[in-house]
Order: sequence, then C-alpha cells, then structure tokens
Amino acid sequence: MNQPLRSEPVAFIDLVAQRKRLSPAVDEAVARVLTHCQFIGGPEVAAFESDLAKYSGAKHAISCGSGTDALLMVLMAQGVGPGDAVICPSFTFCATAEVVALAGATPVFADVDEDTFNLNIESLKHAIVSARKNGLNLKAIIPVDLFGQPADHDAISAIAKAEGLFVLDDAAQSFGAQYKGKRLGTQALATATSFFPAKPLGCFGDGGAIMTDDDGLAERLRSIRVHGQGSDKYDNIRIGLTARLDTIQAAILIEKLKIFEEEIAARDRVAQAYADALGDAVAVPRVVEGNTSTWAQYTIRIPKGRREAFADALKVKGIPTAIYYPKSLHQQTAYKHYPVAGNGLPVCEKLSEEVISLPMHPYLDATTQGRVIEAVRDALRG
Ligand SMILES: Cc1ncc(COP(=O)(O)O)c(C=O)c1O
Repeated sequence: MNQPLRSEPVAFIDLVAQRKRLSPAVDEAVARVLTHCQFIGGPEVAAFESDLAKYSGAKHAISCGSGTDALLMVLMAQGVGPGDAVICPSFTFCATAEVVALAGATPVFADVDEDTFNLNIESLKHAIVSARKNGLNLKAIIPVDLFGQPADHDAISAIAKAEGLFVLDDAAQSFGAQYKGKRLGTQALATATSFFPAKPLGCFGDGGAIMTDDDGLAERLRSIRVHGQGSDKYDNIRIGLTARLDTIQAAILIEKLKIFEEEIAARDRVAQAYADALGDAVAVPRVVEGNTSTWAQYTIRIPKGRREAFADALKVKGIPTAIYYPKSLHQQTAYKHYPVAGNGLPVCEKLSEEVISLPMHPYLDATTQGRVIEAVRDALRG
C-alpha cells in the first residue's frame, strides 16, 4: 500500500484500498454473473446465504435489499402493526425506529449506556412501563449493536422472555462481532444486518440480510422479500416487498466475506493503537470484556461546546471526522411525538452533543494513523 504524503487528505473509510486488494477476485466474480445473466436469484445468492449462515452460526440466512428491509421484513413477518409498540434506543441511525413506524406501530425510545452507547437495561424497563401506560400492545425490543459493539443481549433476552416480547437485533453496524465468544446472529429471534458500502462487510450498493434459527420465520421472510409469494411468484399469500439482494452484490460479498475476519483483526489493531495513544487525553470507546467489536466507527467524546473547534482543527490538517449522531431520534422532527422511557433520555442527549468519530478502516497504516493521533492530541491541547 502506498503511504500518503503528510499533506494528503486522510480517508475516513478507505474503500479504494480494499477494492485494489480484491480487484481480480471481485472482477472475476462479477464477470461470471455478467456471463450467466441471472441477475435476480442467481446461484451466487444461495451460495452467499449458505456462507453467511455458516459464518454467523444461524440456521437460516435470508439475504435482502438493505438493512432497512431486513428490519422491516422481520416486523412484517411477526405481524407487528397498528396499536403495537416496539422499544429501541434513541441514539441510533433512524432506520431502527423508521421500520417500526413503517409497520404502522409505535417506536418507544429508551436511553443508552454512557460507556458502550448501547441500550441501557434500567431505561429498557422504564420504556416497558411507558409503552403500557400509553395503552400500547408491546410486541418487541430492537437493541442496536452500535458502532460495532454487541448490546447486553443476555439481559435484554431475559427481560423479553419475562415480558412475552421478541427481540430483533439491529446488527447493521456490528455483523462479525462476538458476544460472549459467539458471533452475532443467534442472540435474538432474528438478527438484521446491512451491507451498505461503508459497513464493515459492505457490498457495491445496497444489501442486507437476516439471520434466524426459526424455520417458520425464515419461510415467511423468504415469502415477504418476493411480494408475499406462496408456491410461486404468481401465488400471493401475504403482503410483501421487492427486497431481494442482487446476484452481482451476492457475488461481491462472497469474495469480501473471505477476508472479513482478517479485516476485523486489522480494525481491532487500529482501535488498540488509538486507545493506547489517546486514552490518557480523551474518552475513548470501551469494549465489554468477553465481547469484540467490528469498529464500524471509532468514536471519542469531546466535552460539550468544544466539538466544532476540535473538528475544524483536524480538518485543516486534512483529517476528516464525522458525527454519529448529532441528534438522537427522540429529538428529530419525524420522531419527537413518540413516547420515551421514564422522564427523558439524558444520556442520548449528552452523547449527541459530545461524540465525534475518527478515521477507521482496516487499511489505515501506522504512519497515517500517527498523523491522526498527533492532530487529535494537538487539537485537545489547543
Ligand atoms: C443501526 C442501523 N440500522 C439500520 C441501518 C439501515 O441499513 P441500510 O442503510 O442498509 O438500509 C443502518 C445503516 O446505516 C444502521 O446503521
């Protein structure tokens, strides 16, 4: 890999480096699809689903058009609709709650933990009370494994079981991460992920998948992704979607999955180097012992009011940053009328004012990362 000159802008996520590494294998895989022309439902789709099931440890992997489709399809397959409520954290990408509203149900927002950014268990309990106080029929919990790190799945599953709810894990950012020694994919009734290009396992467009051990759910999901088909596509037994993963994307993902573990290890080395160099100067992320992260983002916290100046100081040195998320969902125009847990979500609001993400990808070489680290330390001093 060429090492960039000191003045060159740093990539926030370097898709070009990965593209160069995989060029012959991916080009040949795409060429095979262009030759057989089965652009929908070609043999690569089933092959990728089989690889995905093996990798995640789930009995079924159902590929689909996006991470949003993956979440929505599970809610549809489980019959979530008007009058129902689904609890999710407010500090997440909008799709987590959007699918609940799209299904006609009500998202109920819960707070997150300050150190992991994931669903806070006490707030989840408050959200259950809030949903029922609002006269809603509580159906499910959607925990999010934010920025690559698994949520507290055992605690969430225990509450769900006691309350008669199902769990849909939003692993859009964290597919490949391990929870207590097991890869994500079997901790919930269903695990949804995204293959958006910037995700740790990304394709060259939109894509997603659902993992489940439940045979009945898998069958309903396969039907929903093709217009609710029954015995064939002109037999419509339920309302569905057009939500298939293209054959070309499946062919690309087969090749990318082969190097995914290596890339996760490389991301982990980058994260460790950041933690070693910055941990004494700023709040760096912490991974819960026994778990791993795919480091979809490397997110630090800058005290309120200083974040913009910090980002500007890095920008003039050619170092990009990003803010995930400047507003929590319960503060967004489209979502602010929905119920929240207890008396509010103070941690979500605080994080939205403080978080900032640094360049993170498996191809970040030590020299370039050194530039980022130096610029961060200078900006913190300034
Ligand atoms: C937490 C989370 N959920 C869901 C999604 C939706 O995935 P997609 O963009 O593939 O629809 C994303 C994607 O950014 C996400 O980060």
